[in-house]
Amino acid sequence: MLEGKNINLRIVEKDDLIIIKEWTNNLHIDGEYSPILQETIKDLEKLYDNLKEGKWYFIEKKDEIKIGFILHMLSGSVVPGIGYAIIPSERGKGYGTEAVKIVIDYIFLSKNIVRITAKTHPDNIASQKVLKKAGFKKEGILRKEMFFRGKWNDSALYSILREEWEGPKILLK
Ligand SMILES: CC(C)(COP(=O)(O)OP(=O)(O)OC[C@H]1O[C@@H](n2cnc3c(N)ncnc32)[C@H](O)[C@@H]1OP(=O)(O)O)[C@@H](O)C(=O)NCCC(=O)NCCS
Repeated sequence: MLEGKNINLRIVEKDDLIIIKEWTNNLHIDGEYSPILQETIKDLEKLYDNLKEGKWYFIEKKDEIKIGFILHMLSGSVVPGIGYAIIPSERGKGYGTEAVKIVIDYIFLSKNIVRITAKTHPDNIASQKVLKKAGFKKEGILRKEMFFRGKWNDSALYSILREEWEGPKILLK
């Protein structure tokens, strides 16, 4: 388990995907800027396997209540990408930012990589605030990059470089 100040990140095992499925198939949890997904356990298992060295974590409060998830991908690439969601009732309390900071610490402490990326819809202000507070910088806009919700959508690309990270913010503190 990766321990933060207000939350912990607990690894998702394949048997836990039933919980993830309830969230990813619920349009209110992935939010208005994410694709509409209706996934089976088999679909999620495929995604889980494709994370390879990447990992999926539950975001838990200190009383072990699960309030969301965060994942990082390392599928054959040296540039990990991250994704995350918090259940609506627990948003705006800093948990998303803390989860991203923990994952950034974990990746830079455990993998010899130079940059981590994240993509988000340009109108997703909450997600971009989280990334900026965790030290990411905006690289630019990827035009008409993802098809979802009936149209082609732009993505804002963010990254953080190892030299910008300046050492662990949460882990090992
Ligand atoms: C993005 C998300 C994970 C943020 O989690 P969170 O725990 O609420 O994040 P934090 O509390 O750490 O910070 C959120 C920031 O966004 C702000 N914010 C939240 N909703 C907002 C909105 N609709 N418009 C503008 N700002 C908003 C908060 O005020 C806070 O900023 P502040 O620290 O300056 O006050 C959460 O909103 C979510 O799960 N959204 C749906 C899934 C999603 O979009 N995931 C990202 C896909 S790339």
